[in-house]
Amino acid sequence: MAAFATALVNPCNYIGGISFNPDNDIQDLTGKTILITGGNAGLGKETTLQLAKHNPEKIFLCARTESKAQDAIQSIQAAISTKVDITWIPLDLTSRVSIQKATESFHAQSQRLDILILNAGIMATPPGETDLGHEIQLGTNHTGHFLLTKLLLPTLLKTAEEPNSDVRVVSLASVGHNLAPSFSTFLDQEKLKKVNTNARYGASKAANILFAAELSRRYPSITSVSVHPGIILTDLYNSIGQRTPFFSVTSKPMLLFGSSIPQGAYNSLWAAAGAKKEDIVNGAYYVPVGNWKRDNKYASSADMGKQLWDWTEMELAKANL
Ligand SMILES: NC(=O)c1ccc[n+]([C@@H]2O[C@H](COP(=O)([O-])OP(=O)(O)OC[C@H]3O[C@@H](n4cnc5c(N)ncnc54)[C@H](OP(=O)(O)O)[C@@H]3O)[C@@H](O)[C@H]2O)c1
Repeated sequence: MAAFATALVNPCNYIGGISFNPDNDIQDLTGKTILITGGNAGLGKETTLQLAKHNPEKIFLCARTESKAQDAIQSIQAAISTKVDITWIPLDLTSRVSIQKATESFHAQSQRLDILILNAGIMATPPGETDLGHEIQLGTNHTGHFLLTKLLLPTLLKTAEEPNSDVRVVSLASVGHNLAPSFSTFLDQEKLKKVNTNARYGASKAANILFAAELSRRYPSITSVSVHPGIILTDLYNSIGQRTPFFSVTSKPMLLFGSSIPQGAYNSLWAAAGAKKEDIVNGAYYVPVGNWKRDNKYASSADMGKQLWDWTEMELAKANL
């Protein structure tokens, strides 16, 4: 907890980055296909809106509730001057069947994938598990995204073979990784389910950093990084408010002094489409904006990255995935 509190107030996690303006600093996305998870709300919706302004070929907006997805698509389209093809793909990251169907739907509609943004997430939720039996936060934030990426990988790699390609995978992590329990606890779901909810969130966000770094080691033709977006008051904090009503009247208003939702999307946008390919360090973990945390123990440990990857593959194999 002390490490988290230190990270939260550490100005290095908020300043020292580059200045970024999505209107001017995002590249022209003509011909590019984008898929984003959790695109219906918070940072994911804002990220989709800003990317949509730069002429992508197609955006697949993944969300678990149709009405929320369609509302988001309508409001994004109403906010931009040009018509952009944004298609909802149903996706519930706690369900392997839903993830499989989402990728089938994607493959029926697209032959290429240039930008994959693994944005969806839950935080500090009550105990629960996914249909694979994984702790609910690690299972949603890490395992669900791992399976999604695994099923999209052939398309990502094929796109990366094209001349002048620039394929990117951006994983939304958090300074909350400082709350994670020991690494061995990540790989023991029964043990993980017994630690407190903040530590479980920490494990899931540490796993996002480990996954992004390991993906870059295994598939260097893809640029894969993890980003902390800042502290932004979104629906992510609802479960804390529900669990601790006191939070709503004390800490929650304080979050209003964090970044705005538009600013909270900057680091994802920079990593996905702002930074030039040669200016981004493959496998790195960045705090806002584009500020490389080269000493991050999860991004730099090839050993932990390999262990988490192999463990996740084994867990999926148990379910014939
Ligand atoms: N906000 C912050 O201060 C902060 C700080 C550090 C890191 N982050 C990270 O940033 C990312 C985006 O968070 P946010 O602040 O934008 O939160 P948010 O507003 O709560 O959005 C989260 C998104 O994830 C989706 N989602 C949740 N569970 C899902 C599931 N099982 N299957 C598919 N989609 C699911 C939500 O869908 P529904 O609308 O259907 O629930 C929503 O679209 C998260 O990964 C979070 O960990 C945020």
